[in-house]
Amino acid sequence: MGKDVIVACDFSSKEEVFGFLDKFSNEEQKPFVKIGMELFYAEGPEIVREIKARGHKIFLDLKLYDIPNTVMKAMKVLSTLDIDMTNVHASGTSAMMEAAIKGLTRADGSRPILIGVTMLTSTSEERMRNELLINENIDTVVMSYAMNSKKAGLDGVVCSPLEAKKVHEICGKNFVTVTPGVRFADGEIGDQVRVMTPAQAKEIGSDYIVVGRPITQAADPVGAYLRCVADFVG
Ligand code: C5P
Repeated sequence: MGKDVIVACDFSSKEEVFGFLDKFSNEEQKPFVKIGMELFYAEGPEIVREIKARGHKIFLDLKLYDIPNTVMKAMKVLSTLDIDMTNVHASGTSAMMEAAIKGLTRADGSRPILIGVTMLTSTSEERMRNELLINENIDTVVMSYAMNSKKAGLDGVVCSPLEAKKVHEICGKNFVTVTPGVRFADGEIGDQVRVMTPAQAKEIGSDYIVVGRPITQAADPVGAYLRCVADFVG
């Protein structure tokens, strides 16, 4: 799996996302983009087809979580979109993750990369213990969910760059780590708490970094994207 910078296109309309992507006119500068719930729910599957037609790779970040049969059928629908990566919550357990793979696999045996979401980084250990009644260290839970994802046949997990090294140690270096929470050393942190620079994420072995506002809100988005690529991919 190649190392790449994925740009989080957290926009709520087609006009906004195309206004942003229009800046990337050079073929060699077409970023891998992440389409999340906001844009997908606003514009529907057509936005995926349109962005793909412009030559971008797509990570469809919908974080599916339901009973196995429903997830399998939803994934079967997503398999008809020409996406490159998508995801499910690992907390849906192995039965759900296996059903997701079954649904996502096309008739010719091909399928997009499937990634598991471990414990959301917005969930504190205190809430996990008090509300989810999981009486473990959060790090242990994240690594256990990563291992379950691997056993179910998933290709990798979303995790913080700080967890990527340990995930590789436990699940192997070919198990993909997709890491958000990336900031330039001289940039705004915003609402992210535990951040890393693209160069640090490279050093620690992340396979894909997901970068949103440091690129989408930059005065020069193409320049910021190219800086991320230079620092992370080299
Ligand atoms: O703008 P920023 O770089 O913070 O965007 C990060 C992207 O990664 C957002 O789309 C956010 O929802 C996503 N994400 C995250 N932390 C996670 C999982 C996803 O920041 N644990």
